[in-house]
Amino acid sequence: MENQFTVNNPATGERIQTVQVDNEEKVKDALKRGHEAFKTWSQINAHKRSELLNKWSLKLKEHKEEIATIMTKENGKPLRESRGEVDYAASYIDWYAEEAKRIYGRTIPANTESKRIIVTKQPVGLVAAITPWNFPAAMMTRKAAPALAAGCTFIVKPAVETPLTMIRIVELAHEAGIPKDVVQCVNGRGSVMGKLFTESDYVRKITFTGSTAVGKTLIKNSADTIKHVTMELGGHAPLIIAKDSDLDLAVEQTIASKFRNAGQTCVCANRIIVADEVVDTFAEKLAAAVSDLKVGNGLDETTDIGPIINQKGYKKIKSQMDDALENGAEVLTGNKYDVDEEKGTYFVHPTVLKNVKTSMVMMHEETFGPIAPIIPFQSLNEAVKIANGTPFGLAAYFFTNDYRTGTYLSEQLQFGIVGWNDGAPSAAHAPFGGMKESGLGREGGLEGIEPYLETKYLSIGNLDFSGE
Ligand code: SIN
Repeated sequence: MENQFTVNNPATGERIQTVQVDNEEKVKDALKRGHEAFKTWSQINAHKRSELLNKWSLKLKEHKEEIATIMTKENGKPLRESRGEVDYAASYIDWYAEEAKRIYGRTIPANTESKRIIVTKQPVGLVAAITPWNFPAAMMTRKAAPALAAGCTFIVKPAVETPLTMIRIVELAHEAGIPKDVVQCVNGRGSVMGKLFTESDYVRKITFTGSTAVGKTLIKNSADTIKHVTMELGGHAPLIIAKDSDLDLAVEQTIASKFRNAGQTCVCANRIIVADEVVDTFAEKLAAAVSDLKVGNGLDETTDIGPIINQKGYKKIKSQMDDALENGAEVLTGNKYDVDEEKGTYFVHPTVLKNVKTSMVMMHEETFGPIAPIIPFQSLNEAVKIANGTPFGLAAYFFTNDYRTGTYLSEQLQFGIVGWNDGAPSAAHAPFGGMKESGLGREGGLEGIEPYLETKYLSIGNLDFSGE
């Protein structure tokens, strides 16, 4: 990477802006300033930190249309989804503005009259974050808000595809009164920044949303200085439809899960596993609804499916589709592509596939595109086996109106997030995160602030007052 990079609109190929790469010296200086700022920020009382977070959230809400437009231009997602993401991003700040005031310790009865045992929580220190292009706003606030609430300082490196949303959100944090060195943004290539972050003694915690491969490298590189790590990594979500499900609800929620952000999410359904008895009806209904989705520039209010982020993303989808079709998958709708290599724009029409087999590549690798592969099952055990047959464990979904089937599936599925008759479970007030190779730790909810806190146990002696 040169000393600058350009941000392009994936829907038109047009250059939006050039962004300066922060060199090593600048990043090291930022890390030092973040470390210094921790000394004062961690001492500010929780109510004051909460107040500043509330002001930041308000700024996001006031600038919703502006941020949503920037997001749609650099990421491609439909404006409706970008507006939703600004709300979603603000909801993390709102939630942790409240949690800041609820960082409780505890006292433990001692086993002798002369001691008192007190447990307190303290912020871990400077936190370094690396965030993805698919949710340029919410993946940042989901990390920054609990960090700041806990009393940590925060430095973030946004994805090179979508830094502009983040740059604006960080500016708004400063406008809200959060000191400049408490929240900082640096730009550059992930591998370079990752190395600087993990090697720095100033950084006490690394938090990352992105691929499992990069997550593993960050974990390894954090070992030398024993940093705290939170990892939100890849997924390969199964979506099971039992024979007694409400099929119309299942179709609606499958679309909500699968086609959000053109299928470029870690939590979207990647394998649709449907009971033999209803597979044909479900597939027909899904294909009919999907064929109504409109592909286009996200700035057009009528667009449902925006572009794929770049050529690499498109090629991955295309090669998975080629593999599936060569091996007998049947197209019910879609399998159309509007590609302009000169401009660098890649649109994939939403696609529904039948006759999919577990051996196909898309049944093992994350597709990150608007492809819905359907595979039938005969027994619930078989559905569970297919669903759990992946090293990933982020999100899973199932549809059933039978409480026994629902209880069984919710207990058997090895995933951190499970939606029962719900294709969109993500929420600021709930813990988001994966099992197995999908990650470590949780973001959101009560659990989401814990990774930014150290537990300190204080034992006070010489306190036996019985003779006084
Ligand atoms: C992701 O898929 O990367 C995050 C989506 C969410 O928060 O719902």
